[in-house]
Amino acid sequence: MTAVDGGRRPIRFNAFDMNCVAHQSPGLWRHPDDQSHRYTDIDYWTELAKLLERGRFDGLFIADVLGVYDVYGGDDVAAIREGAQTPVADPLLLVSAMAVVTEHLGFGITTGTGFEHPFPFARRLTTLDHLTKGRLGWNVVTGYLPSAARNFGAADQLDHDERYDHADEYLEVLYKLWEGSWEDDAVVRDVDRGIYTDPAKVHHIGHAGKHFTVPGIHVGEPSPQRTPVIYQAGASPRGTRFAAENAEAIFIAGPSKRVLAQTVSRIRDELEAAGRDRYAARIYALATIVTDSSDEAAHRKHEEYLSYASVEGGLVFMSGWMGIDLSQYDLDDPIGDVQSNAIQSAVAAFQEFDDDGREWTVRDIGRWAGIGGMGPVFVGSGETIADLLADWQADTDVDGFNLAYAITPGTFEDVVTHVVPVLTERGQYPEEYVPGTLRHKLVGRGDRLPDEHRGARYRIGGPGSTALSEEQVRAGSLIDSH
Ligand SMILES: Cc1cc2nc3c(=O)[nH]c(=O)nc-3n(C[C@H](O)[C@H](O)[C@H](O)COP(=O)(O)O)c2cc1C
Repeated sequence: MTAVDGGRRPIRFNAFDMNCVAHQSPGLWRHPDDQSHRYTDIDYWTELAKLLERGRFDGLFIADVLGVYDVYGGDDVAAIREGAQTPVADPLLLVSAMAVVTEHLGFGITTGTGFEHPFPFARRLTTLDHLTKGRLGWNVVTGYLPSAARNFGAADQLDHDERYDHADEYLEVLYKLWEGSWEDDAVVRDVDRGIYTDPAKVHHIGHAGKHFTVPGIHVGEPSPQRTPVIYQAGASPRGTRFAAENAEAIFIAGPSKRVLAQTVSRIRDELEAAGRDRYAARIYALATIVTDSSDEAAHRKHEEYLSYASVEGGLVFMSGWMGIDLSQYDLDDPIGDVQSNAIQSAVAAFQEFDDDGREWTVRDIGRWAGIGGMGPVFVGSGETIADLLADWQADTDVDGFNLAYAITPGTFEDVVTHVVPVLTERGQYPEEYVPGTLRHKLVGRGDRLPDEHRGARYRIGGPGSTALSEEQVRAGSLIDSH
Protein backbone atom coordinates (compact mmCIF):
# COMPACT_ATOMS: atom_id res chain seq x y z
CA MET A 1 0.00 0.00 0.00
CA THR A 2 1.14 3.58 -0.46
CA ALA A 3 3.07 5.33 2.28
CA VAL A 4 1.03 7.54 4.54
CA ASP A 5 1.84 10.94 6.04
CA GLY A 6 4.24 11.26 8.91
CA GLY A 7 5.57 7.72 8.52
CA ARG A 8 2.64 6.36 10.50
CA ARG A 9 1.40 2.93 9.62
CA PRO A 10 -1.82 2.95 7.64
CA ILE A 11 -4.87 1.50 9.29
CA ARG A 12 -5.87 -1.57 7.29
CA PHE A 13 -9.34 -3.01 6.95
CA ASN A 14 -10.53 -6.55 6.40
CA ALA A 15 -14.21 -7.43 6.19
CA PHE A 16 -15.43 -10.39 8.24
CA ASP A 17 -18.35 -12.40 6.90
CA MET A 18 -19.51 -15.99 6.72
CA ASN A 19 -21.66 -17.94 4.28
CA CYS A 20 -24.64 -17.84 6.65
CA VAL A 21 -27.22 -15.56 8.23
CA ALA A 22 -26.26 -12.73 10.63
CA HIS A 23 -22.74 -14.12 11.12
CA GLN A 24 -21.75 -12.78 14.57
CA SER A 25 -24.73 -10.55 15.25
CA PRO A 26 -27.39 -12.99 16.40
CA GLY A 27 -30.91 -11.66 16.06
CA LEU A 28 -30.03 -8.89 13.63
CA TRP A 29 -31.28 -10.89 10.68
CA ARG A 30 -34.68 -9.57 11.84
CA HIS A 31 -33.63 -5.98 11.06
CA PRO A 32 -35.51 -4.74 7.96
CA ASP A 33 -32.31 -3.49 6.29
CA ASP A 34 -30.27 -6.64 6.88
CA GLN A 35 -29.65 -8.68 3.75
CA SER A 36 -27.67 -11.53 5.26
CA HIS A 37 -30.46 -13.96 4.29
CA ARG A 38 -29.16 -13.38 0.72
CA TYR A 39 -26.08 -15.47 1.54
CA THR A 40 -27.47 -18.09 -0.88
CA ASP A 41 -27.57 -15.48 -3.69
CA ILE A 42 -24.29 -15.09 -5.59
CA ASP A 43 -25.23 -11.44 -6.34
CA TYR A 44 -24.96 -10.67 -2.62
CA TRP A 45 -21.33 -11.77 -2.71
CA THR A 46 -20.34 -10.04 -5.94
CA GLU A 47 -21.98 -6.79 -4.79
CA LEU A 48 -20.18 -7.04 -1.45
CA ALA A 49 -16.82 -7.71 -3.12
CA LYS A 50 -17.20 -4.64 -5.34
CA LEU A 51 -18.18 -2.49 -2.36
CA LEU A 52 -15.16 -3.61 -0.33
CA GLU A 53 -12.81 -2.99 -3.24
CA ARG A 54 -14.28 0.51 -3.57
CA GLY A 55 -13.33 0.97 0.09
CA ARG A 56 -9.82 -0.43 -0.57
CA PHE A 57 -10.21 -3.20 2.00
CA ASP A 58 -7.29 -5.64 2.07
CA GLY A 59 -9.63 -8.56 1.88
CA LEU A 60 -12.83 -10.34 2.66
CA PHE A 61 -12.31 -12.94 5.37
CA ILE A 62 -14.94 -15.68 5.27
CA ALA A 63 -15.24 -17.68 8.47
CA ASP A 64 -16.48 -21.25 8.55
CA VAL A 65 -17.46 -24.00 10.95
CA LEU A 66 -18.53 -27.48 10.01
CA GLY A 67 -20.58 -28.20 13.08
CA VAL A 68 -23.47 -26.83 15.10
CA TYR A 69 -23.23 -24.71 18.25
CA ASP A 70 -24.77 -27.33 20.51
CA VAL A 71 -22.88 -26.62 23.72
CA TYR A 72 -25.46 -24.11 25.04
CA GLY A 73 -28.24 -26.06 26.72
CA GLY A 74 -26.60 -29.31 25.64
CA ASP A 75 -28.36 -29.49 22.25
CA ASP A 76 -28.66 -27.73 18.89
CA VAL A 77 -32.18 -26.36 19.37
CA ALA A 78 -31.27 -22.76 20.27
CA ALA A 79 -28.65 -22.53 17.49
CA ILE A 80 -31.13 -23.76 14.87
CA ARG A 81 -33.94 -21.52 16.10
CA GLU A 82 -31.72 -18.41 16.28
CA GLY A 83 -30.01 -19.03 12.94
CA ALA A 84 -26.69 -18.95 14.86
CA GLN A 85 -24.32 -19.90 12.00
CA THR A 86 -26.83 -22.62 11.14
CA PRO A 87 -27.59 -23.05 8.25
CA VAL A 88 -24.08 -22.48 6.91
CA ALA A 89 -22.69 -22.97 3.39
CA ASP A 90 -19.25 -23.57 1.87
CA PRO A 91 -16.95 -20.51 1.67
CA LEU A 92 -14.61 -21.69 -1.11
CA LEU A 93 -17.32 -21.85 -3.74
CA LEU A 94 -17.95 -18.10 -3.47
CA VAL A 95 -14.49 -17.00 -4.49
CA SER A 96 -14.39 -17.40 -8.29
CA ALA A 97 -17.46 -15.24 -8.83
CA MET A 98 -16.12 -12.47 -6.60
CA ALA A 99 -12.72 -12.65 -8.28
CA VAL A 100 -14.29 -11.97 -11.68
CA VAL A 101 -15.82 -8.66 -10.55
CA THR A 102 -12.77 -7.36 -8.68
CA GLU A 103 -9.10 -6.77 -9.38
CA HIS A 104 -7.44 -6.26 -6.00
CA LEU A 105 -9.56 -7.56 -3.14
CA GLY A 106 -8.04 -10.52 -1.27
CA PHE A 107 -10.09 -13.55 -0.22
CA GLY A 108 -9.34 -15.19 3.12
CA ILE A 109 -11.12 -18.50 3.16
CA THR A 110 -11.49 -20.56 6.31
CA THR A 111 -11.09 -24.34 6.25
CA GLY A 112 -10.37 -26.67 9.14
CA THR A 113 -7.36 -28.97 9.20
CA GLY A 114 -9.41 -31.80 10.70
CA PHE A 115 -11.97 -32.34 7.98
CA GLU A 116 -10.29 -32.87 4.65
CA HIS A 117 -7.19 -34.75 3.59
CA PRO A 118 -4.43 -32.28 2.60
CA PHE A 119 -3.89 -33.85 -0.84
CA PRO A 120 -7.21 -32.80 -2.47
CA PHE A 121 -7.26 -29.62 -0.38
CA ALA A 122 -3.90 -28.53 -1.83
CA ARG A 123 -5.31 -28.88 -5.33
CA ARG A 124 -8.44 -26.89 -4.57
CA LEU A 125 -6.48 -23.97 -3.17
CA THR A 126 -4.01 -24.05 -6.04
CA THR A 127 -6.98 -23.88 -8.40
CA LEU A 128 -8.41 -20.85 -6.61
CA ASP A 129 -5.05 -19.10 -6.44
CA HIS A 130 -4.84 -19.42 -10.23
CA LEU A 131 -8.41 -18.26 -10.76
CA THR A 132 -7.99 -15.22 -8.48
CA LYS A 133 -4.62 -14.37 -10.08
CA GLY A 134 -2.89 -14.78 -6.73
CA ARG A 135 -5.40 -13.20 -4.37
CA LEU A 136 -6.12 -16.21 -2.20
CA GLY A 137 -5.57 -16.47 1.53
CA TRP A 138 -6.34 -19.48 3.71
CA ASN A 139 -7.39 -19.07 7.33
CA VAL A 140 -6.01 -22.19 9.02
CA VAL A 141 -8.33 -23.35 11.78
CA THR A 142 -8.12 -26.40 13.97
CA GLY A 143 -11.83 -26.39 14.89
CA TYR A 144 -13.47 -25.94 18.25
CA LEU A 145 -16.91 -27.55 17.97
CA PRO A 146 -17.11 -31.16 19.20
CA SER A 147 -20.26 -31.53 17.05
CA ALA A 148 -18.09 -31.20 13.93
CA ALA A 149 -15.72 -33.97 15.04
CA ARG A 150 -18.63 -36.28 15.94
CA ASN A 151 -20.01 -36.04 12.40
CA PHE A 152 -16.66 -37.29 11.14
CA GLY A 153 -17.07 -40.36 13.30
CA ALA A 154 -14.89 -39.32 16.24
CA ALA A 155 -16.13 -39.41 19.82
CA ASP A 156 -14.83 -35.87 20.38
CA GLN A 157 -12.34 -33.47 18.88
CA LEU A 158 -8.66 -33.96 19.69
CA ASP A 159 -7.39 -32.12 22.73
CA HIS A 160 -6.61 -28.45 22.18
CA ASP A 161 -2.81 -28.65 21.80
CA GLU A 162 -2.98 -31.96 19.93
CA ARG A 163 -5.15 -30.28 17.29
CA TYR A 164 -2.28 -27.89 16.64
CA ASP A 165 0.25 -30.78 16.45
CA HIS A 166 -2.01 -32.40 13.85
CA ALA A 167 -2.23 -29.06 12.00
CA ASP A 168 1.58 -28.82 12.00
CA GLU A 169 1.82 -32.00 9.96
CA TYR A 170 -1.12 -30.96 7.78
CA LEU A 171 0.79 -27.83 6.84
CA GLU A 172 4.00 -29.77 6.32
CA VAL A 173 2.25 -31.85 3.67
CA LEU A 174 0.81 -28.75 2.03
CA TYR A 175 4.12 -26.90 2.00
CA LYS A 176 5.77 -29.92 0.40
CA LEU A 177 3.07 -30.04 -2.27
CA TRP A 178 2.92 -26.32 -2.93
CA GLU A 179 6.60 -25.41 -2.54
CA GLY A 180 8.51 -28.63 -3.08
CA SER A 181 6.95 -30.56 -5.93
CA TRP A 182 7.07 -28.47 -9.09
CA GLU A 183 10.04 -26.42 -10.20
CA ASP A 184 9.16 -23.00 -11.58
CA ASP A 185 10.10 -23.91 -15.14
CA ALA A 186 8.57 -27.40 -15.14
CA VAL A 187 5.81 -26.52 -17.58
CA VAL A 188 7.51 -26.04 -20.95
CA ARG A 189 4.62 -26.39 -23.44
CA ASP A 190 7.14 -27.46 -26.07
CA VAL A 191 5.02 -27.91 -29.19
CA ASP A 192 7.85 -29.28 -31.37
CA ARG A 193 8.92 -32.01 -28.96
CA GLY A 194 5.39 -32.71 -27.68
CA ILE A 195 6.35 -32.08 -24.06
CA TYR A 196 3.84 -30.22 -21.95
CA THR A 197 5.71 -30.60 -18.64
CA ASP A 198 9.30 -31.75 -18.11
CA PRO A 199 8.97 -34.80 -15.81
CA ALA A 200 12.47 -34.24 -14.40
CA LYS A 201 11.21 -30.99 -12.86
CA VAL A 202 8.21 -32.42 -11.05
CA HIS A 203 9.10 -34.17 -7.79
CA HIS A 204 7.37 -36.76 -5.65
CA ILE A 205 7.18 -35.32 -2.15
CA GLY A 206 7.71 -38.64 -0.33
CA HIS A 207 5.85 -37.63 2.83
CA ALA A 208 5.34 -40.34 5.43
CA GLY A 209 4.28 -38.98 8.83
CA LYS A 210 2.18 -39.75 11.88
CA HIS A 211 -1.14 -38.73 10.34
CA PHE A 212 -0.57 -38.61 6.57
CA THR A 213 1.21 -40.56 3.87
CA VAL A 214 1.53 -38.66 0.61
CA PRO A 215 4.18 -40.13 -1.66
CA GLY A 216 3.41 -38.50 -4.99
CA ILE A 217 3.48 -35.19 -6.79
CA HIS A 218 1.21 -32.21 -6.36
CA VAL A 219 -1.27 -32.52 -9.20
CA GLY A 220 -1.65 -28.77 -9.69
CA GLU A 221 0.94 -26.59 -11.41
CA PRO A 222 2.37 -23.72 -9.35
CA SER A 223 -0.04 -20.81 -8.93
CA PRO A 224 1.05 -17.17 -8.62
CA GLN A 225 1.64 -17.38 -4.86
CA ARG A 226 2.16 -21.18 -4.69
CA THR A 227 1.25 -21.23 -0.97
CA PRO A 228 -1.78 -18.96 -0.49
CA VAL A 229 -1.34 -16.24 2.13
CA ILE A 230 -1.61 -18.03 5.47
CA TYR A 231 -4.09 -16.49 7.90
CA GLN A 232 -4.53 -17.68 11.45
CA ALA A 233 -6.72 -16.75 14.38
CA GLY A 234 -5.71 -18.79 17.43
CA ALA A 235 -4.20 -16.83 20.29
CA SER A 236 -3.59 -19.36 23.09
CA PRO A 237 0.11 -19.96 23.87
CA ARG A 238 0.13 -23.02 21.54
CA GLY A 239 -1.94 -21.14 18.94
CA THR A 240 0.43 -18.19 19.01
CA ARG A 241 3.42 -20.47 18.50
CA PHE A 242 1.66 -22.04 15.52
CA ALA A 243 0.83 -18.57 14.15
CA ALA A 244 4.40 -17.35 14.60
CA GLU A 245 5.72 -20.18 12.44
CA ASN A 246 3.08 -20.04 9.73
CA ALA A 247 0.87 -16.98 9.65
CA GLU A 248 1.23 -13.94 7.46
CA ALA A 249 -1.98 -12.34 8.68
CA ILE A 250 -3.36 -12.92 12.18
CA PHE A 251 -6.86 -12.19 13.41
CA ILE A 252 -7.31 -11.54 17.08
CA ALA A 253 -10.35 -10.75 19.17
CA GLY A 254 -10.63 -9.23 22.61
CA PRO A 255 -12.91 -6.95 24.53
CA SER A 256 -10.38 -4.32 25.61
CA LYS A 257 -7.21 -2.53 24.54
CA ARG A 258 -5.40 -4.15 27.44
CA VAL A 259 -6.22 -7.69 26.31
CA LEU A 260 -5.40 -6.91 22.68
CA ALA A 261 -2.11 -5.17 23.52
CA GLN A 262 -0.95 -8.20 25.52
CA THR A 263 -1.91 -10.56 22.70
CA VAL A 264 -0.16 -8.45 20.05
CA SER A 265 3.04 -8.19 22.05
CA ARG A 266 3.04 -11.97 22.69
CA ILE A 267 2.53 -12.64 18.97
CA ARG A 268 5.30 -10.24 17.94
CA ASP A 269 7.70 -11.81 20.49
CA GLU A 270 6.87 -15.28 19.13
CA LEU A 271 7.43 -14.09 15.55
CA GLU A 272 10.94 -13.04 16.54
CA ALA A 273 11.52 -16.30 18.38
CA ALA A 274 10.57 -18.09 15.14
CA GLY A 275 13.30 -16.16 13.31
CA ARG A 276 10.97 -13.71 11.61
CA ASP A 277 10.54 -9.96 11.79
CA ARG A 278 8.24 -8.69 14.59
CA TYR A 279 6.05 -7.17 11.88
CA ALA A 280 6.22 -10.11 9.44
CA ALA A 281 2.54 -10.87 10.03
CA ARG A 282 -0.25 -8.32 9.75
CA ILE A 283 -2.39 -8.34 12.88
CA TYR A 284 -6.05 -7.37 12.59
CA ALA A 285 -8.27 -6.91 15.65
CA LEU A 286 -11.93 -7.79 15.42
CA ALA A 287 -14.21 -4.74 15.69
CA THR A 288 -17.63 -3.59 14.56
CA ILE A 289 -18.22 -0.02 13.43
CA VAL A 290 -21.61 1.63 13.71
CA THR A 291 -21.36 5.00 12.00
CA ASP A 292 -23.46 7.70 10.36
CA SER A 293 -23.30 11.38 9.42
CA SER A 294 -23.10 12.51 13.08
CA ASP A 295 -22.41 11.04 16.51
CA GLU A 296 -26.09 11.37 17.42
CA ALA A 297 -27.28 9.54 14.31
CA ALA A 298 -24.72 6.78 14.91
CA HIS A 299 -25.81 6.32 18.53
CA ARG A 300 -29.48 6.18 17.45
CA LYS A 301 -28.53 3.50 14.91
CA HIS A 302 -26.64 1.54 17.57
CA GLU A 303 -29.60 1.64 19.98
CA GLU A 304 -31.81 0.38 17.18
CA TYR A 305 -29.41 -2.47 16.37
CA LEU A 306 -29.22 -3.41 20.05
CA SER A 307 -32.99 -3.74 20.16
CA TYR A 308 -32.69 -6.56 17.62
CA ALA A 309 -29.64 -8.29 19.17
CA SER A 310 -30.30 -11.61 20.89
CA VAL A 311 -28.62 -12.22 24.26
CA GLU A 312 -29.50 -15.91 23.98
CA GLY A 313 -27.90 -16.03 20.52
CA GLY A 314 -24.81 -14.36 22.00
CA LEU A 315 -24.65 -17.03 24.70
CA VAL A 316 -25.07 -19.79 22.08
CA PHE A 317 -21.93 -18.47 20.37
CA MET A 318 -19.97 -17.82 23.53
CA SER A 319 -20.77 -21.32 24.84
CA GLY A 320 -19.44 -22.81 21.60
CA TRP A 321 -16.33 -20.63 21.58
CA MET A 322 -15.58 -21.27 25.23
CA GLY A 323 -16.64 -24.91 25.25
CA ILE A 324 -18.75 -24.17 28.34
CA ASP A 325 -22.53 -24.47 28.61
CA LEU A 326 -23.32 -20.96 29.85
CA SER A 327 -27.02 -21.85 30.26
CA GLN A 328 -26.10 -23.57 33.54
CA TYR A 329 -24.90 -20.33 35.16
CA ASP A 330 -26.81 -17.47 36.64
CA LEU A 331 -26.63 -14.45 34.34
CA ASP A 332 -24.95 -12.46 37.10
CA ASP A 333 -22.24 -15.04 37.84
CA PRO A 334 -18.68 -13.86 37.15
CA ILE A 335 -17.01 -15.86 34.39
CA GLY A 336 -14.41 -17.13 36.87
CA ASP A 337 -11.65 -19.64 36.51
CA VAL A 338 -13.04 -22.13 33.98
CA GLN A 339 -10.89 -24.30 31.73
CA SER A 340 -11.64 -24.80 28.05
CA ASN A 341 -10.99 -27.39 25.38
CA ALA A 342 -12.40 -25.05 22.73
CA ILE A 343 -10.99 -21.55 22.21
CA GLN A 344 -8.67 -21.01 25.17
CA SER A 345 -7.89 -17.44 24.17
CA ALA A 346 -11.61 -16.58 24.22
CA VAL A 347 -11.94 -17.73 27.79
CA ALA A 348 -8.76 -15.98 28.86
CA ALA A 349 -9.88 -12.70 27.26
CA PHE A 350 -13.02 -12.58 29.36
CA GLN A 351 -11.33 -13.72 32.54
CA GLU A 352 -9.23 -10.57 32.33
CA PHE A 353 -10.68 -7.50 33.91
CA ASP A 354 -11.69 -4.93 31.31
CA ASP A 355 -10.15 -1.47 30.82
CA ASP A 356 -12.36 -0.13 33.64
CA GLY A 357 -11.24 -2.84 36.09
CA ARG A 358 -14.64 -4.60 36.03
CA GLU A 359 -15.07 -8.39 36.23
CA TRP A 360 -17.19 -9.89 33.44
CA THR A 361 -20.43 -11.75 34.20
CA VAL A 362 -22.29 -14.26 32.03
CA ARG A 363 -24.86 -11.60 31.10
CA ASP A 364 -22.06 -9.20 30.08
CA ILE A 365 -20.58 -11.63 27.63
CA GLY A 366 -24.00 -12.56 26.18
CA ARG A 367 -24.70 -8.88 25.55
CA TRP A 368 -21.19 -8.25 24.34
CA ALA A 369 -21.44 -11.03 21.76
CA GLY A 370 -24.85 -9.75 20.56
CA ILE A 371 -23.24 -7.47 17.96
CA GLY A 372 -20.06 -8.46 16.13
CA GLY A 373 -18.83 -11.31 18.35
CA MET A 374 -15.89 -10.90 20.69
CA GLY A 375 -14.60 -7.52 19.50
CA PRO A 376 -15.54 -3.99 20.57
CA VAL A 377 -18.31 -1.97 18.88
CA PHE A 378 -17.17 1.54 17.91
CA VAL A 379 -20.02 4.03 17.57
CA GLY A 380 -19.84 7.56 16.13
CA SER A 381 -19.38 9.81 13.12
CA GLY A 382 -16.58 9.16 10.64
CA GLU A 383 -14.35 11.59 12.57
CA THR A 384 -15.07 9.95 15.92
CA ILE A 385 -14.42 6.49 14.51
CA ALA A 386 -11.18 7.62 12.87
CA ASP A 387 -10.03 8.97 16.27
CA LEU A 388 -10.97 5.71 18.00
CA LEU A 389 -9.23 3.51 15.46
CA ALA A 390 -6.04 5.57 15.60
CA ASP A 391 -6.16 5.45 19.39
CA TRP A 392 -6.67 1.67 19.50
CA GLN A 393 -3.94 1.12 16.94
CA ALA A 394 -1.48 3.29 18.89
CA ASP A 395 -2.27 1.55 22.19
CA THR A 396 -2.34 -2.04 20.92
CA ASP A 397 0.14 -2.07 18.00
CA VAL A 398 -2.32 -3.79 15.64
CA ASP A 399 -1.95 -3.24 11.90
CA GLY A 400 -5.64 -2.89 11.29
CA PHE A 401 -9.15 -4.08 11.99
CA ASN A 402 -11.17 -7.07 10.95
CA LEU A 403 -14.61 -5.54 10.62
CA ALA A 404 -17.65 -7.60 11.51
CA TYR A 405 -21.08 -6.35 10.59
CA ALA A 406 -24.18 -5.54 12.60
CA ILE A 407 -26.23 -5.68 9.39
CA THR A 408 -24.95 -6.45 5.93
CA PRO A 409 -24.09 -4.86 3.59
CA GLY A 410 -25.26 -1.76 5.52
CA THR A 411 -22.41 -1.79 8.06
CA PHE A 412 -19.79 -2.04 5.30
CA GLU A 413 -21.52 0.65 3.20
CA ASP A 414 -21.47 2.97 6.22
CA VAL A 415 -17.75 2.37 6.78
CA VAL A 416 -16.93 3.03 3.12
CA THR A 417 -19.11 6.18 3.09
CA HIS A 418 -18.27 7.74 6.46
CA VAL A 419 -14.94 6.37 7.73
CA VAL A 420 -12.71 5.56 4.75
CA PRO A 421 -12.81 9.17 3.38
CA VAL A 422 -11.88 10.65 6.79
CA LEU A 423 -8.99 8.23 7.34
CA THR A 424 -7.77 8.83 3.78
CA GLU A 425 -7.99 12.59 4.20
CA ARG A 426 -5.94 12.29 7.41
CA GLY A 427 -3.28 10.25 5.61
CA GLN A 428 -4.06 7.18 7.71
CA TYR A 429 -5.50 4.93 5.03
CA PRO A 430 -4.03 3.60 1.78
CA GLU A 431 -4.89 5.84 -1.16
CA GLU A 432 -4.67 3.05 -3.69
CA TYR A 433 -3.97 -0.65 -3.98
CA VAL A 434 -0.48 -1.93 -4.71
CA PRO A 435 -0.64 -3.99 -7.91
CA GLY A 436 0.05 -7.71 -7.71
CA THR A 437 -0.74 -10.68 -5.56
CA LEU A 438 -2.34 -10.57 -2.12
CA ARG A 439 1.00 -11.46 -0.49
CA HIS A 440 2.74 -8.63 -2.28
CA LYS A 441 -0.01 -6.20 -1.36
CA LEU A 442 0.20 -7.16 2.31
CA VAL A 443 3.93 -7.41 2.82
CA GLY A 444 5.48 -5.81 -0.27
CA ARG A 445 8.15 -8.48 -0.77
CA GLY A 446 6.93 -10.34 -3.83
CA ASP A 447 4.49 -13.11 -4.59
CA ARG A 448 6.10 -16.07 -2.86
CA LEU A 449 6.74 -16.97 0.78
CA PRO A 450 9.78 -15.11 2.13
CA ASP A 451 12.90 -17.26 2.66
CA GLU A 452 12.67 -17.12 6.47
CA HIS A 453 9.12 -18.51 6.50
CA ARG A 454 8.66 -22.11 7.65
CA GLY A 455 7.13 -23.10 4.30
CA ALA A 456 10.30 -22.04 2.42
CA ARG A 457 12.22 -24.88 4.13
CA TYR A 458 10.28 -27.37 2.02
CA ARG A 459 11.36 -25.95 -1.31
CA ILE A 460 13.25 -28.38 -3.52
CA GLY A 461 16.75 -28.59 -2.09
CA GLY A 462 15.66 -26.85 1.14
CA PRO A 463 16.42 -28.39 4.56
CA GLY A 464 12.86 -29.71 5.04
CA SER A 465 12.41 -31.02 1.53
CA THR A 466 11.70 -34.72 1.11
CA ALA A 467 11.40 -34.41 -2.67
CA LEU A 468 12.63 -37.58 -4.31
CA SER A 469 14.84 -37.80 -7.35
CA GLU A 470 13.61 -39.63 -10.45
CA GLU A 471 16.05 -42.45 -9.65
CA GLN A 472 14.62 -42.90 -6.16
CA VAL A 473 11.12 -42.99 -7.53
CA ARG A 474 12.07 -45.52 -10.22
CA ALA A 475 13.89 -47.64 -7.64
CA GLY A 476 10.63 -47.83 -5.71
CA SER A 477 12.10 -46.17 -2.64
CA LEU A 478 9.15 -43.87 -2.27
CA ILE A 479 8.07 -44.79 1.21
CA ASP A 480 11.14 -46.75 2.33
CA SER A 481 13.29 -43.65 2.15
CA HIS A 482 11.62 -42.39 5.39
C1 LIG B 1 -11.38 -13.41 14.79
C2 LIG B 1 -11.41 -14.90 14.87
C3 LIG B 1 -12.00 -15.61 13.83
C4 LIG B 1 -12.06 -17.01 13.87
N1 LIG B 1 -12.67 -17.66 12.85
C5 LIG B 1 -12.79 -19.01 12.92
C6 LIG B 1 -13.48 -19.73 11.93
O1 LIG B 1 -13.99 -19.17 10.97
N2 LIG B 1 -13.59 -21.08 12.05
C7 LIG B 1 -13.03 -21.76 13.10
O2 LIG B 1 -13.15 -22.98 13.15
N3 LIG B 1 -12.34 -21.09 14.05
C8 LIG B 1 -12.23 -19.75 13.99
N4 LIG B 1 -11.58 -19.09 14.99
C9 LIG B 1 -10.98 -19.89 16.05
C10 LIG B 1 -9.49 -20.04 15.86
O3 LIG B 1 -9.11 -20.40 14.58
C11 LIG B 1 -8.89 -21.06 16.80
O4 LIG B 1 -9.31 -22.37 16.49
C12 LIG B 1 -9.32 -20.80 18.15
O5 LIG B 1 -9.03 -19.46 18.44
C13 LIG B 1 -8.69 -21.79 19.15
O6 LIG B 1 -7.38 -21.56 19.28
P1 LIG B 1 -6.76 -20.83 20.54
O7 LIG B 1 -7.26 -21.58 21.71
O8 LIG B 1 -5.32 -21.00 20.24
O9 LIG B 1 -7.20 -19.40 20.53
C14 LIG B 1 -11.51 -17.71 14.97
C15 LIG B 1 -10.92 -16.99 16.01
C16 LIG B 1 -10.88 -15.60 15.97
C17 LIG B 1 -10.24 -14.89 17.10
